[in-house]
Amino acid sequence: MKNVTELRCVSCGKVYGPTELDYTCPDCGTRIGTLEVVYDYESAELEFKEKVGEGPITDIKRYSPLLPIENLDNLPPLRIGGTPLYGFHELTDELDKVWIKDDSGNPTASYKDRATALAIAAARQKGTETMTCASTGNAASSLAGLAAASGMETVIFVPAAAPEAKIAQLLVYGANVFAVEGSYDQAYDLCLEAAKSYGWYNRSAAIHPFLVEGKKTGALEMADQLNWNLPDKVFVSVGDGSIISSLCKGFRELVEIDLIDEAPHIVGVQAEGADTIARAFSRYNGGEVEITDQSANTVADSISVGKPRDIVKAVKYTYENGGSFLTVSDDEITSALVELARERGVFAEPAAAASYAGLKKALNEDDLGDSEEVGVFITGSGLKDVSAAKKSVEGPMKVSPDLSEVERALDESGLSFGS
Ligand SMILES: Cc1ncc(COP(=O)(O)O)c(C=O)c1O
Ligand SMILES: [Zn+2]
Repeated sequence: MKNVTELRCVSCGKVYGPTELDYTCPDCGTRIGTLEVVYDYESAELEFKEKVGEGPITDIKRYSPLLPIENLDNLPPLRIGGTPLYGFHELTDELDKVWIKDDSGNPTASYKDRATALAIAAARQKGTETMTCASTGNAASSLAGLAAASGMETVIFVPAAAPEAKIAQLLVYGANVFAVEGSYDQAYDLCLEAAKSYGWYNRSAAIHPFLVEGKKTGALEMADQLNWNLPDKVFVSVGDGSIISSLCKGFRELVEIDLIDEAPHIVGVQAEGADTIARAFSRYNGGEVEITDQSANTVADSISVGKPRDIVKAVKYTYENGGSFLTVSDDEITSALVELARERGVFAEPAAAASYAGLKKALNEDDLGDSEEVGVFITGSGLKDVSAAKKSVEGPMKVSPDLSEVERALDESGLSFGS
């Protein structure tokens, strides 16, 4: 924490000491009083540059000079970050290169591990035994898994309709799970109340300022992998708005410490049925963020958020970044899921494929400006929601174990292959 100077409220601007508050600004409340972690960039710069010069990229510890961690030993003992970045040439004539940052390779198979790691380190620093969170699924399984590795108890609130694999993951990791008969937004509010009543340490989206810090390691790592030469635009799926905020902040801090000249423009992608942040962004002109919540409805369960908790940061940071938002339909998301797998060999869950759907839409609408290279963050594995994936493809050809059956099936399907 030695480079952290203060925590600053993103709504009223009031500043607090680096360890003065756990969660949000008491004057502004939980929803709009999210805090930003501010560093002494001059003192962080040299240390950061030395650290990233120290051999191959392994995990998020490499970026510790720009992280609020007191003691690195408090991080979970699993490899978080260090995920692959794949470069593909010539998606179309308009683009030279597409970079896919595949974060399904984290320990619990989603981007959320980057944030959870920081929350666990903070909780351990305080000597907390029990952590809680509400989640559409991935933050929950992330907390359950990383807390298990850190010897902590978890109490988790998920919507009862969360995909089976995500709930199974929680139970296998040994979490105490409440499947809430209601939306994610209701599960979130219930968790907030329970955390207050029982004194559990809360890792729910946006509430803890360190979550965005953990998530920003995705931006730092992408830049590091590209030797500080970033693509022109970066696409990311948006639910509560924390990941997009973290990418804006991470890239902005790299400018601050002179490792890059300019941040890439961030394109936030929301589902049409859960577009509260995109709508608030379209009305925003630098003043107060106007929020109109909705009831969310999309196939992309992880971004099915009607009352996004990091909306103030997401709107303000994206505005400062010069970025933009677009929305995609459920059909565009499921098509993108299949295309991403078939064109790039990356199997994403629907919410993660939304970012790729955003890229496809921008390409179709000729909306990439003069970008030559783009980046796409893939934030969760397709194995998390197999039934959604199965709906977008045809079933297998069923045969008995007999070659003549294979021949019959090939004839019927009209398929033929080279040898
Ligand atoms: C796979 C996946 N992608 C994207 C998101 C959106 O992240 P955020 O809620 O920080 O906007 C989530 C959040 O749950 C997620 O699980
Ligand atoms: Zn405030």
